Amino acid sequence: MPNLTINGIAVAVPDGTTILNAAKTIGVHVPHYCYHPRLSIAGNCRMCLVEVEKFPKLQTACSTVVTEGMIVRTDTEKVRKAVTGVLELILIHHPIDCPICDQAGECGLQNYYMTYGLHKSRYALEDKVHKKKVQDIGGQIVLDAERCILCSRCVRFLDEVTQTRELHIFSRGDHSEISVFPGRPLSNDYTGNLADICPVGALTSKDFRFKCRVWFLKGAESICTGCSNGCNVEAHFKGDILYRLKPRENEAVNRSWMCDFGRLEYKKANDARLLAPFVREGGAEKAVSWGALVPRVALELSRAAEAGPDAAAVIASPQLSNEELYLARRIATELLGTRNLAFTHRAPGDGFEDGFLIRADKNPNSRGARLLGIPDGAAFDALVERIAAGTVRALLVFGNVVGSFTEAETAALLSKVPFVAQVGTNDGPVSKVATAVMPSASFAERGGTFTSHAGRVQRFRAGFAPRGKARNTVDLLVELANRMGAGWTFAGEASVFHALSATEAPFAGMTYESVGSQGQECKP
Ligand code: SF4
Ligand code: SF4
Ligand code: FES
Repeated sequence: MPNLTINGIAVAVPDGTTILNAAKTIGVHVPHYCYHPRLSIAGNCRMCLVEVEKFPKLQTACSTVVTEGMIVRTDTEKVRKAVTGVLELILIHHPIDCPICDQAGECGLQNYYMTYGLHKSRYALEDKVHKKKVQDIGGQIVLDAERCILCSRCVRFLDEVTQTRELHIFSRGDHSEISVFPGRPLSNDYTGNLADICPVGALTSKDFRFKCRVWFLKGAESICTGCSNGCNVEAHFKGDILYRLKPRENEAVNRSWMCDFGRLEYKKANDARLLAPFVREGGAEKAVSWGALVPRVALELSRAAEAGPDAAAVIASPQLSNEELYLARRIATELLGTRNLAFTHRAPGDGFEDGFLIRADKNPNSRGARLLGIPDGAAFDALVERIAAGTVRALLVFGNVVGSFTEAETAALLSKVPFVAQVGTNDGPVSKVATAVMPSASFAERGGTFTSHAGRVQRFRAGFAPRGKARNTVDLLVELANRMGAGWTFAGEASVFHALSATEAPFAGMTYESVGSQGQECKP
């Protein structure tokens, strides 16, 4: 544990720590471009220069390991002058498109210029080297080579993380340029991360470009719903529109990364939303108030339950939170007294998984459903058989997926049930035929926990209120259950999680506090 001082503050750090990271532990920010905590050290941008006593020259903080008794200063005139000089050099050939650059607000170049630059350019505008702009280089990325500061983060990411090596630095001197080989575009499942790690506006997201200035966005801690890996993400929204998902650091789950498929999952919160409850009568949709609809659904389900244990059924979804699944199970088993309870998967694509982040199960909470005693597989097939045989008189279904059935097959199957009530976020095969449609909040509009494939219970939080007349699923299920005589006193998902962890062994002893923002392993 070497002891050193940084700007006069004493600090002790583990052996092998660099000056940049030692400074970070005491809240001293050393400017940097090429350094990234998840990538190898390149030491090529020279932004992180610091003064070290007894060293004749300034040192790069990202690549200099601390030693016992070191005295470091990051705040001297000499350091400031050097960093200003580095910035001036970087900016010599930088294009003059800052005012329209979509990276504004999160561009390292703009931000550091305000702190260390603020110099007049000594370079003639017409002498700037021009490089290719707005190139679609594949994946989710647009390249503006002119803005690149050659920090090589992107090259190292593709060498070290995806190992697909699509980007290279071509040419020499001030003509050096980042690019792909002709005809060999980015082709890996993690390209979106390049826009996150590029410190300037050279690599930007095709999807997010020019949609919204980042300073208008607010963020909420969330969990990706794209597969069972449970990558930690930040959901960025403005008003009630979700604009993007960014990876949130979690060493145990996704480190700093997320996949391209998951990155586009935010669209589910915006597109084809069910925004108001309705019933279908004689094939026509008729708007209805929540006040009228919930009692009607409760009545139909209760009536069916009275007709026998197989006459009411619940199809749950692994897109539901642990809290919602727990309530759905209790509705089925305690209030409807039925064994007709199972869940069905959403399985877009081919069930691909890659041994890194992407999992074959494209649902965030299959593990949670099973741990809470809701089966899939054979139990789901048996439930479908009972539906096809006309045994089920009233069905409560969550989401839009029924097994691997097509839209026509879903319609044919559900036509066997006289009363189908759906709780769903988006329009789809089930809402197109259901008797009663109850719009529910998207993952960005509600909170709760998912259990990842590895058994990690992780919280996601509401960013904004449910869109339109959509309702929080927990609140909706509590009201529905109480209409059936449950007498539940739950108030919000936290109280449901409290009850769940008190009775369900895998979750024993857990609280929202203990789960925190990084998750907690459930009991085996
Ligand atoms: S494109 Fe971005 S990440 Fe890649 S070298 Fe240039 S500035 Fe660095
Ligand atoms: S690996 Fe899975 S959880 Fe992670 S970002 Fe991709 S789809 Fe989402
Ligand atoms: S961050 Fe140290 S040289 Fe680039």
